[in-house]
Amino acid sequence: MSILEVKDVGKRFGGLQALSDVNLSVAENSVHAIIGPNGAGKSTLLNCFVGKLIPDTGSVMFDGQSVLGRKPFEINQMGISRVFQTPEIFGDLTVLENMLIPCFAKRDGAFELNAIGSVQSDKEIGDRAMQMLEEMNMADKRDMHAAAMSRGDKRRLEIGMCLSQEPRLLLLDEPTAGMARADTNNTIDLLKQIKNERDITIAIIEHDMHVVFSLAERITVLAQGTPLVEDTPDNIKGHPKVREAYLGETA
Ligand SMILES: Nc1ncnc2c1ncn2[C@@H]1O[C@H](COP(=O)(O)OP(=O)(O)O)[C@@H](O)[C@H]1O
Ligand SMILES: [Mg+2]
Repeated sequence: MSILEVKDVGKRFGGLQALSDVNLSVAENSVHAIIGPNGAGKSTLLNCFVGKLIPDTGSVMFDGQSVLGRKPFEINQMGISRVFQTPEIFGDLTVLENMLIPCFAKRDGAFELNAIGSVQSDKEIGDRAMQMLEEMNMADKRDMHAAAMSRGDKRRLEIGMCLSQEPRLLLLDEPTAGMARADTNNTIDLLKQIKNERDITIAIIEHDMHVVFSLAERITVLAQGTPLVEDTPDNIKGHPKVREAYLGETA
């Protein structure tokens, strides 16, 4: 059964047709990768799943309900969380304070930055945030300033902040971009662990083929805004259309 169903999606920016005829179906509880060269439209497509962009044509259904025209926080409430290409954390706050924010948002529908100072008086949220940090193996870093962490740890925190929302669909836009190999491998292990321990579907945009082939069960290759091919990792490896998409070669 598919949890995300994309039909005939098109999106134009001025004179540029960034997406056209995008059809894509993400199976529930799978890891689905979207790959393609720079400028292929991958981030644009992801933005259409989370209310950041509204496509000009087509539909995007999550669990049978349209996401189009909904505000990002409504989409979050439907069960979709996303990790952007650049980690979206508050560098001047501690690791624990960062984690408190989505925990407040989940319970109260909103948060105020000054609320994080009063966490001692709100045991429920404090406990929940610590529990998430423990799950992310970051409890010992709770008082560190987020800005001081490695890129891999920032990403780990950000993924944990998404998971605190208990999403059914986790979207990641190049989660390992700019990372050292060791951090990349840690991120792969973390995503495998999340997949094993939770009822969750993961859709991941990724450049690094090592990451893609370590995680994905299904791969869609996007080129110039249109899916070229969708298949299993084994069938995608060495596929002439993939060479064409990446290198401009024709088979
Ligand atoms: N907001 C925007 N306004 C105008 N052009 C955009 C905008 N966002 C993306 N583009 C263009 O759309 C194309 C696809 O971009 P993007 O989805 O970011 O590609 P990818 O993530 O695959 O690298 C690119 O040519 C990019 O320059
Ligand atoms: Mg992108």
